[in-house]
Amino acid sequence: MKQFTTISEIKDYLKIKREKGLKIGFVPTMGALHDGHLHLISRSKQENDLTICSIFVNPIQFNNKADLEKYPRTLARDSKLLEMSGCDIVFAPSSAEIYPEDEKIGLDQEFGMLDKVMEGKFRPGHFKGVAIVVKKLFDIVQPTRAYFGKKDFQQLAIIKYLVDLLKLPVEIIPCETVRESDGLAMSSRNIRLTIAERNLAPKIYETLQQVKNKAGKMAVRELKTWAIKKIHENSEFQVEYLEIGDKDTLAPIDSWHSRERAVAFIAVFLGDVRLIDNIELFS
Ligand code: PAF
Repeated sequence: MKQFTTISEIKDYLKIKREKGLKIGFVPTMGALHDGHLHLISRSKQENDLTICSIFVNPIQFNNKADLEKYPRTLARDSKLLEMSGCDIVFAPSSAEIYPEDEKIGLDQEFGMLDKVMEGKFRPGHFKGVAIVVKKLFDIVQPTRAYFGKKDFQQLAIIKYLVDLLKLPVEIIPCETVRESDGLAMSSRNIRLTIAERNLAPKIYETLQQVKNKAGKMAVRELKTWAIKKIHENSEFQVEYLEIGDKDTLAPIDSWHSRERAVAFIAVFLGDVRLIDNIELFS
């Protein structure tokens, strides 16, 4: 596996590969890799000639400084996992490499409702930060396909929108959320849960599954209230939002008229760890 830390080196290397007609699969990450990421790598390997994984903890997508500081950084372990999974290239740049001091950081695009609701509402500026770094990484890697997990459903919607808007020549491949055997969605944050919190955590997905069972049988507003109450049966949980929204626009849904488009989304603190998950209600 090749490792690059500078933009010029990886660009030169990939230019030659692209000239040979090789298809490039790209998995952008912030490291602290788990099976969910390795699943994306394996999918990319099946569908492309070369697979690249980037590891970069993007400072501008953290609206909370403490969250950025606490974010796990495990580059040596990540590199081993990537090597074992057959990834071809890892790109792990420094912050100064991605955001040189003399360069203005910004993005003119607006995302309408997409970055105003749910994560966008509770983490102001987060998606602008994600969009800026993903656009930069796409410009560097110029992948044929890029792989994103559906756990970050809103992120995926924003990236798809950006790619359409800017007509970027990359195919976005959404991948199913990978779960632990007890249903907890895999996340780099899970390692911060205490043993007691980890034992409680499956309740998040269990409740989403119950929401799916009840969808269409109860009014939307009633169902949301029911689900929040259910989670709060355990005082260790603090729900930030539980929303039912449209799978493309993410706009909140208040009736079951377009039920096939409905997705339930949750963000919840378990202790001081913030977890998100979602479920498509009629698929
Ligand atoms: O999902 C993530 O890990 C990050 O938001 C991403 C897409 C790598 C951008 O920093």
